[in-house]
Amino acid sequence: MMGCSSSQQDVSIQQNKKSSINPYFESSSLGSIKTKNRIIMAGMSRLRADPKTNIPNDLMAEYYSQRASFGAIITESSAISSNSNAFPGSGNIYTLEQVEGWKKVVDKVHQNGGKIIIQLFHCGRVALPSFIGGELPIAPSPIGLTTPHFFTKQSYPVPKEMNKQDILNVIEQFKNAAINAKKANFDGIQLHAGNGYLIDQFLRDGTNKRTDDYGGSIPNRARFLLEVIDSISQVFGYDKIGVRLTPTGRYNEMYDSNPLELVQYLLKQFEKRNLGFVELKRHDKTNRKNIQQSAADDGLVDPELQMPNFFDSIRGLYKGCIILNDGITYEEGLKLLQQNKGDFISFGRYAVSNPDLPQRFQNNWELSDADQNTFYRGGDKGYVDYLTYEQSQSKNKS
Ligand SMILES: Cc1cc2nc3c(=O)[nH]c(=O)nc-3n(C[C@H](O)[C@H](O)[C@H](O)COP(=O)(O)O)c2cc1C
Repeated sequence: MMGCSSSQQDVSIQQNKKSSINPYFESSSLGSIKTKNRIIMAGMSRLRADPKTNIPNDLMAEYYSQRASFGAIITESSAISSNSNAFPGSGNIYTLEQVEGWKKVVDKVHQNGGKIIIQLFHCGRVALPSFIGGELPIAPSPIGLTTPHFFTKQSYPVPKEMNKQDILNVIEQFKNAAINAKKANFDGIQLHAGNGYLIDQFLRDGTNKRTDDYGGSIPNRARFLLEVIDSISQVFGYDKIGVRLTPTGRYNEMYDSNPLELVQYLLKQFEKRNLGFVELKRHDKTNRKNIQQSAADDGLVDPELQMPNFFDSIRGLYKGCIILNDGITYEEGLKLLQQNKGDFISFGRYAVSNPDLPQRFQNNWELSDADQNTFYRGGDKGYVDYLTYEQSQSKNKS
């Protein structure tokens, strides 16, 4: 049985349901992770942990537990080892203290009735040596980023090409991180296989120029991800593992010559394993004009032409559980769910500024906008001080 109840339902049942029940508020399951609605908080790095230790703290427990009414929360990118950390200040998961810190976060989310899934990642080439103990970043091929680092404006070095032993080491690190996530009581795992980090660097042919078993054909480029999945399945079980893919995204200077074929192959492999869920993030240029390179500038085929109706392409390829993301409004998400194009919608920026987003949707309450200036680092401001709608109403009255 594939993991998502909605995708297995008879179409006529779906049609009848559509008229009476708003699909956002149906209970469902992400693989075997039960959810009270179909509204997911997307993974977002907010960098509120100590940048030296990367130990999750009480402030983070407060932030995540405020959002326990989402069907499930996906955490910030959590680095699996000291040389995989792109973001000083993220809550990582390779030391005992980090595991203990996360356990407090998870417990508080559970106490508030929520579900929480950790996003495991390795940054690959997207690291400055100063973030990873002076080491050189590693990657499938020695191709460096050309744009400087976001905060520090320092240039990225050309990464070291991973040999077979490096690959085996990183797979082991993912497995250890999964063991740690289990100790911290997470409900599941999402592997970050998008946005230009290590797994994505293997998947896409713009960054993978290898000539061994891990490069060249699509099955070869997918091998690393599939080996990571198989390895962590010994810890969590396939039904509690998800993958995030951004096949057409250009963030971190990424590109693939045939994203549709790549996705098609990956989804087949996920189906074979009865994977818990897959999250697909489209290329939404309107959101991030300043950091998304224009494909046209490079003389490449625009990703939007490669998969022109991104959300339409997916369901026909996959029987499992699908989360859709990027630039989705309440109305568009409702349509996507009603048309059965996905099973869940994930929200990023709305989740930052509306801790009670599901209630706001349900009651048609006004949404708050997120302040970009407080996305990363800092303390409470722009992190735990966004009010619920009801709190803001009673504040206005007093
Ligand atoms: C502050 C911020 C941090 C983010 N960090 C991550 C991250 O750690 N991992 C990830 O997969 N995506 C990350 N994203 C992307 C979001 O998950 C999401 O894909 C994006 O915001 C688009 O969804 P939205 O239109 O609902 O905001 C981040 C986005 C924002 C705004």
